[in-house]
Amino acid sequence: MNAISIPRLTQMKAEQQKFAVLTAYDATFAQLAAEAGVEVLLVGDSLGMVLQGQDSTLPVTLEDMVYHTRAVAKGNARAAQPALVMTDLPFMSYGTLEQGLASARAVMQAGAHLIKIEGDDWLIPLIQRLAQQGVPVCAHLGLTPQAVNKLGGYKVQGRDDAKADAMLAHAIALAEAGADLLLLECVPSTLAERITQAVSIPVIGIGAGSATDAQVLVMHDMLGLNRGRVPKFVKNYMVNGNTVQDAFAQYTSEVKAGVFPAAEHGFSA
Ligand code: KIV
Repeated sequence: MNAISIPRLTQMKAEQQKFAVLTAYDATFAQLAAEAGVEVLLVGDSLGMVLQGQDSTLPVTLEDMVYHTRAVAKGNARAAQPALVMTDLPFMSYGTLEQGLASARAVMQAGAHLIKIEGDDWLIPLIQRLAQQGVPVCAHLGLTPQAVNKLGGYKVQGRDDAKADAMLAHAIALAEAGADLLLLECVPSTLAERITQAVSIPVIGIGAGSATDAQVLVMHDMLGLNRGRVPKFVKNYMVNGNTVQDAFAQYTSEVKAGVFPAAEHGFSA
C-alpha cells in the first residue's frame, strides 16, 4: 500500500476513494487508529472539551497542542502504516502572519504533518506563506468552533442561499491560495456536495453529508463516551460487543465504503 501523504490523499479524491479521519490526543489511541487504517489523525482543539472539560475550544493553548501532537506522533510512528498527523492551531494563535508562522512551526516541529486553521478568505495570506514554507494546510469552513461567540452557538452554517454561495466562493479561493485540504463542519449536505465537486483538493466532512471525500469524528463521540448532548452527525461504534479496535476498524471501513454517514447524520438546507 502507498504511504499516506498529501499527494496520495489528492490522488484518492481523483480516484473517488474515500478516506477516514479521526481525532487522537495520545500515543495509544493514535497507534490503534493508525493500525485500523485511519489515514489522518486530527489532534483537534476539541481536546479542550473532551480532555480538559472546558465548555469550548477557546481556552486551549499552543503548548497544549504541542504536547498532544508529540504524543500522537510517537504512537502513530509505531503503526506499520502511519497516518498523517494534522494539528489544529488554537484560538488566536494565527491572527497575524507572524503568529501563524510561529504557531505552525511549533506544532510541525512537535510532529504534525499538516496544520488546520479555521476561517474563510482572511486566511489566504497565511496559507500562501505556509505553502511557500512547505507547510500543508487544511482550511476549516462552516461551523468554526473557535468563532462560537460570533456565531451564537454550535449551529449549522450556510443554510441560506447567500451564505451558501459565499462559502462556496471561499472554498474555491482557499484552494486556489494553496490550501491542501478543506474541512466542512455542520453544513447542509447539498452545499458540501457542491463544494466537494468544485475543488480538486480533498474535502473532509463532519455533519456535512456523505458526498465529501473523507469523514472525521471526535474519537470520544464515536466511542459513545459523550456525556452531554450527542450531535446528530455522530454514530456510536461501541456496539455489538465491539472493542475499541473493532470500533476504529468498523468506522474506517464504513467511511471508505460510503456507509457512514447515512442520510440521518446530515443536515438539510
Ligand atoms: O477539534 C476538532 O476535533 C475538530 C473536529 C470537530 C473537526 O476540529
